[in-house]
Formats: sequence, structure tokens, C-alpha cells
Amino acid sequence: MPFMVWNDRIGVGVEAVDADRKKMVEMINELYEAILAGSGRKKLDSLLDRLVDYTRYHFVREEELFARTGYPDAAAHKREHDEMAEWMKNTWRRHRNSSMPVPSLEVMNTLKDWLFNHILGSDQKCAPHTKAHRGWGSQIPWDPERTATVY
Ligand SMILES: [Fe+2]
Ligand SMILES: [Fe+2]
Repeated sequence: MPFMVWNDRIGVGVEAVDADRKKMVEMINELYEAILAGSGRKKLDSLLDRLVDYTRYHFVREEELFARTGYPDAAAHKREHDEMAEWMKNTWRRHRNSSMPVPSLEVMNTLKDWLFNHILGSDQKCAPHTKAHRGWGSQIPWDPERTATVY
């Protein structure tokens, strides 16, 4: 049983943005599997880096979509992103400085709960607006080799 189960019916109707969410769920599951498999710090840190980096990338993409399509609730939505980005930043910093190589179950559950709540809450709230911009695609490239060095 995966840590998070993705439901394809959930989405905002913009392919690039929906694909991001699916990928974030996959990354969290991959991290969880690696923890269960007893992976070492190097492996776990690189999976965490990718997840943090991709999440930031996804936030930027969504915010760009909102800005370009004039989504009226963009500011409130961005505040949620900012809060999560701040939590991630602090959590990862603590993790890096800790002697424990494995992120705690509390951290994993917070990640999962936040993502579900955000996807089912604010992200769904913008769906009626974004569905009118179905074909929108972001020009922002994501480099999977890049790590979240800002943290
Ligand atoms: Fe999102
Ligand atoms: Fe969002």
C-alpha cells in the first residue's frame, strides 16, 4: 500500500499543473519506500532535496498560471504556498543538522496532510477558474539534477 494514493479525478484541469501534483505524490511515496527499505542518509537527502525543489517549482508554476490568467484568489493561495515553503525550509534545515538520517513519521505525515488538504482545498477552489485555461503550459524548466541548495 503506497503512503499516498493519487486519484486521477482530482485536478484543476490544466495538464502541466495536474501532472506536477501526481509527481509530488510519487516523490513522497518514493521517499517513504526508501525509508522503509532502510536507505542511507545520502539517498534520503537526495530524495528530500528533489521533493523540496519540485514543490517550490510547482508553487511557482501555479502562481504564474494565476498571474497570467487573473485568478482573483491568488494572494490567499500564495500565502498557503509561502507557509508550506517556510515549513519545508525550517524542517529541512533541522533535518540536515540532525544526526538522524531518517525524516520522522511526523514530518512525513505533515507533508502528506498538507498536500492532501491543499490539493482538495485551495487547489480545487481554483479549478473552475483554471479549467477555462486548459491548454496553459508553463515555460519554467525543471532540472531534476538540481538540488534545493537554497536550503
Ligand atoms: Fe498545487
Ligand atoms: Fe497550490
